[in-house]
Amino acid sequence: SLPKQVKIVEVGPRDGLQNEKETISAAVKIELVDRLTLAGFANIEAASFVSPKWVPQMATSAEVMQKIARRPGTIYSALTPNMQGFDAALAAQADEVVIFGSASEAFSQKNINCSIAESIARFEGVAKAAKEHGLRLRGSISCAFGCPYQGDVPLDAVADVVKRMRDLGCDEIDIADTIGVATPRKTQAVMERAIQAFHVGGLSGHFHDTYGQALANIYASLETGIAIYHSSVSGLGGCPYAKGATGNVATEDVLYLMQGLGIATGIDLDLVVDAGQFISQQLGRKGSSRAGNAIAAK
Ligand code: HMG
Ligand code: MG
Repeated sequence: SLPKQVKIVEVGPRDGLQNEKETISAAVKIELVDRLTLAGFANIEAASFVSPKWVPQMATSAEVMQKIARRPGTIYSALTPNMQGFDAALAAQADEVVIFGSASEAFSQKNINCSIAESIARFEGVAKAAKEHGLRLRGSISCAFGCPYQGDVPLDAVADVVKRMRDLGCDEIDIADTIGVATPRKTQAVMERAIQAFHVGGLSGHFHDTYGQALANIYASLETGIAIYHSSVSGLGGCPYAKGATGNVATEDVLYLMQGLGIATGIDLDLVVDAGQFISQQLGRKGSSRAGNAIAAK
């Protein structure tokens, strides 16, 4: 049987916007986060404290975190690749910091400029500091289903990074399909291996919809018991270090699926559709959520 309830982590303000070419003002990002807060998300990935030379769009993260209207109980997360990022996230009062590694050596080099082993060593300081300051710690594993540079990624490589993230003390671990290549049986094989290495309640599915498989993969993951999913309002996004990668699965589509399955999310779909319309208008293009566009057209 499928989970009765899932947590949807809204990653649009970070994963969704990080790859936009035109600079988006902090005011627009703040309004987007505030609209998402009002829609009822328990967890919003709002910021990324990475090098502004690598990802210029995230340079306003401190201002965004400072000015958003926080709802008590909602977790506002920020990416922190190293101690410099952690210090910035702490100052910005992030509730959760995200260390992000990869199951692919090649992608690790391109994305964070070091090997998998070096990244884990670098994350140790961040993990320790997070615990000392009572912050939640999340680990994200890119390319768990395939890599734009090395192609196939063995199940053992995924399981190995899950264990390393677990041993660092992660509260939650994301199994990410950075380039959206997974299909349902493959998804189940990877998730089942991850579940052997970490408790199922702490694992999340982070699917990009590049090949149109994300909803099918979420359904396949639900069957394995995974009950945390990442999605991006209006299907925003793409990764700067994965050429041709498109956005995360659209939040509106995921919510429509969950509604139909009778799985509780605690989120108001209509308010998410409004937030999607808002950000699409700001970006000057039609949103890419099928459910969002259908509901908005009614
Ligand atoms: P590096 O060049 O190896 O690091 O970058 P460094 O320590 O040598 O520092 C170089 C410069 O960056 C220095 O500045 C540092 O101060 C600065 P300079 O002296 O040249 O003026 N710097 C920083 N500035 C601000 N905040 C920081 C920071 N750290 C260093 N935290 C580094 C290593 C990790 C920093 C770099 O590679 C980087 O920022 N990468 C970011 C990559 C990224 O953000 N990718 C997208 C997010 S991951 C993703 O989207 C995948 C995910 O969605 C899951 C999935 O779908 O797979 C999570
Ligand atoms: Mg991503």
